[in-house]
Amino acid sequence: MTTVGIDAVEIWAGKTKLDLPGTFAPEKDEEPDKYRKGLGLVNSSFPDVYEDIVTMGANAAKRLMDREGLTPDDIGRIDVATESAFDNSKPVSTYIAGCLEDVYDDDFHHANKGERKFACISGTQSIDDAYNWIKAGRNRGRSALVIATDTALYARGSSGEATQGAGAVAMLITEDPSLVELSTEQGYGSADETDFLKPNQQFPSVDGKRSMQVYLARMREAVEDFESVAWDMHPDDFAYIPFHTPFPGMVRKAGLLGYRHMIRDTEIEDGLADEIGRQPRESEFEDWDAYEDAIQEYMDELKRTDTYQSWYADTIEPTLSIAREVGNWYTGSVHVARASALKTAAEQDRDLAGKKLLVGSYGSGAQAEIHAETVVDGWREEIENLNIDEQLDQRYDLDFEEYEQIHDVHNHDMTVDVEEFTTPRGVRVRRPRPDERATV
Ligand code: CAA
Repeated sequence: MTTVGIDAVEIWAGKTKLDLPGTFAPEKDEEPDKYRKGLGLVNSSFPDVYEDIVTMGANAAKRLMDREGLTPDDIGRIDVATESAFDNSKPVSTYIAGCLEDVYDDDFHHANKGERKFACISGTQSIDDAYNWIKAGRNRGRSALVIATDTALYARGSSGEATQGAGAVAMLITEDPSLVELSTEQGYGSADETDFLKPNQQFPSVDGKRSMQVYLARMREAVEDFESVAWDMHPDDFAYIPFHTPFPGMVRKAGLLGYRHMIRDTEIEDGLADEIGRQPRESEFEDWDAYEDAIQEYMDELKRTDTYQSWYADTIEPTLSIAREVGNWYTGSVHVARASALKTAAEQDRDLAGKKLLVGSYGSGAQAEIHAETVVDGWREEIENLNIDEQLDQRYDLDFEEYEQIHDVHNHDMTVDVEEFTTPRGVRVRRPRPDERATV
């Protein structure tokens, strides 16, 4: 049977960075440890003045295509996931394809292009679409290019300002992949929510604290739904669990929730019973609120145990190393988490082929998806080709005044005036003029 999955990945980080504990916190009269320990962030990646979702997405895709030796003819589908789009009609995929066509002097005329929107989960949804397209046999031997690109900027002075970021992830979805194989094991949690919105506005309207509760509620539903297709889930089944990472502190809460769920009725719960008791069962309570309070108390105890902390250090912590350095990339964030985990495994010389990942994606509005992936032979070479450390080291370190200037440049009524430029890596990027493609 044909296997389908992610064959290659590339990451493009915004060209500048903001030191959160060192530069941002003092200006906001806050403790640096709120960033280092609470939110779990060291730096945010910011777009330079000449960068936007198109240039970052095109650059990530170009790196990926060059590395894999691909031409536009090899690509049958381009899906761009973003929540930073500036055009309500023409999809960002066409702008990015236009840039790549200039660079390769070749066209994507026969590729199906689209833009996917469901907040941060749309990167994963685009992968799901590509998987279904290939499994249905509609790809005619060609691959799908999925690009997740965002400038995750918040209004200055809002609570979200602490968790900004900018960057793009490009992924090639193919038959017989070299990185991870996708499966049909999926679970969803979904509800109509209004805690985080951008109705025709550049910066989000966000109720930060409520957005965290909604994330956890949908993630719990997704875990429960996942259990209906993958019986007897056990924490040791998974080498890593990459979650959507708006900031690492959020994943600390999601990891605990997932672990509590997975240890139910296992030898781990039995082993911890003397230390912290068994976890409460819903049937033991007359009302839901009392049950929730009891679960919260159990989780407060659970997170202090050596058993949990050691599992978290092995399974979740390695997914956060890049996020700590770049902040939130919205649609790209969970894919950055996967790359972080695999990068750590390669650095530690771990043998991962055949091991499973459990991937927890989330988008405000709101939906969570849990799915399983299997790491395949070839993953190490693929991940060692990422030059993410080099990119992160080369970012320009902004002082606070420069940060405010950059932020202002990107707050421009949702129109971008830069039409043509050469990036620092020598890639010429040009936004096609609206009239340019109308001629036959
Ligand atoms: N030392 C150690 N820890 C400290 C500290 C110190 N000196 N000061 C604060 N902290 C801890 C706090 O205790 C808190 O941790 P806990 O939640 O575990 O208690 C953490 O640091 C953050 O502190 P605050 O809650 O005081 O921070 P805040 O008021 O600035 O709000 C936020 C944080 C709500 C996440 C805000 O940054 C925000 O609105 N962010 C944007 C929304 C967001 O990211 N939501 C996430 C879920 S929605 C989603 O995932 C979609 C998406 O991508 C946006």
